[in-house]
Amino acid sequence: MTIHAPSVRELLARRAPGFSLEQPFYISPEVYELDLQAIFYRDWLYAIPACQLGKTGSYVTLRIGAYEVVIVRGRDAEIRAFHNSCRHRGSLICAAREGQVARLVCPYHQWTYELDGKLIWANDMGPGFNAADYGLKPVSLRNLGGLIYICLSDSPPDFDLFAQRIRPYVEVHDLVDAKVAFTSTIVEKGNWKLVWENNRECYHCSSNHPALCRSFPLDPEIAGVQADGCVSERLQAHFDRCEAAGAPAQFHLSADGQYRAARMPLQGRAVSYTMDGKAAVARNLGRVAPSDAGTLLLFHYPSTWNHFLPDHSLTFRVTPVGPTETEVTTTWLVHKDAVEGVDYDLKRLSEVWIATNDEDREIVETNQKGILSPAYGPGPYSPGQESGVSQFVDWYAEALQRAPAPLQVAAE
Ligand code: FES
Ligand SMILES: [Fe+2]
Repeated sequence: MTIHAPSVRELLARRAPGFSLEQPFYISPEVYELDLQAIFYRDWLYAIPACQLGKTGSYVTLRIGAYEVVIVRGRDAEIRAFHNSCRHRGSLICAAREGQVARLVCPYHQWTYELDGKLIWANDMGPGFNAADYGLKPVSLRNLGGLIYICLSDSPPDFDLFAQRIRPYVEVHDLVDAKVAFTSTIVEKGNWKLVWENNRECYHCSSNHPALCRSFPLDPEIAGVQADGCVSERLQAHFDRCEAAGAPAQFHLSADGQYRAARMPLQGRAVSYTMDGKAAVARNLGRVAPSDAGTLLLFHYPSTWNHFLPDHSLTFRVTPVGPTETEVTTTWLVHKDAVEGVDYDLKRLSEVWIATNDEDREIVETNQKGILSPAYGPGPYSPGQESGVSQFVDWYAEALQRAPAPLQVAAE
């Protein structure tokens, strides 16, 4: 008997909108590879806040699927990204997660690259060797108001429309004047899409996030997306009030559903993500005057969601590391002149999202375990509470449809 293994296209074709995906999308190594090929190797990905590279020669390394990337600040202050693979015999050049160097020196045979990627020294390579032929391979990079995005594709999709739409929202937060107060990286034992699905609803918040619920509202309109694109009068009044005070706030969802920005009110009298709801930092990062402006929520699939508050900002980066493993890096940004212990207390600043991330990790891992059971089948999203999840899964299905070739996945 032949067991028919459905192609991903067949699985997509029989997908029931408004339901979670079939099991292979969350567990299959073949779908994982397709996700990398069709999405992570093609799209723009959020990498780091520019301020993380504070000095000449500061660098960070990232691994995205099979790719190794180094992002470095040059002598001209420009930030550039390169494939972190030596042009001699391919060694990693920078093995650490981050650091600072005068030049990029390969540890194997000491080929030496300038911070702009030019090869400037290679010992004993013979008379016909032309160093100009062996510079580091560049990776496309854009700086959107202090947020660094990279794209691994040789022909990156358009970035300009996203930048043009989003820049006004982000610019008022003055991320160019920021510093990194804290970074946390955790690995969640769950497929990257489960991390996103969990992020795109707050149906789970009241029973799982006691600290976050002190400041983040449970109103499903905050996390979700109305099918008709409309927002409630109450929300519109909040947007209008913020905009009158100079802080762009209107709900904006891109036509293809890849990104959304909206400045959402917080719970009750809360002004920041702290246990008492009061500001976490005495010196504001940015020019958002109303202290109760809430949080500018920005997501950009597949790699980032963000919270920009009047007093500080938070960026989140989602990186798949395997079919059932995802890395989530959170960065807390404060004004560069804010002094720890004077203008802010690090525990008070970070404790709500450290707890929330850990609670989300637990939920995602438990979700993944249940999906690994052969008894799992797609279940319905709540139309009132999980419109954002539906919106994410619809975007994902469309992104996969653009994939170059159908892949077979293991029989169910
Ligand atoms: S592999 Fe880098 S110098 Fe040889
Ligand atoms: Fe959560």
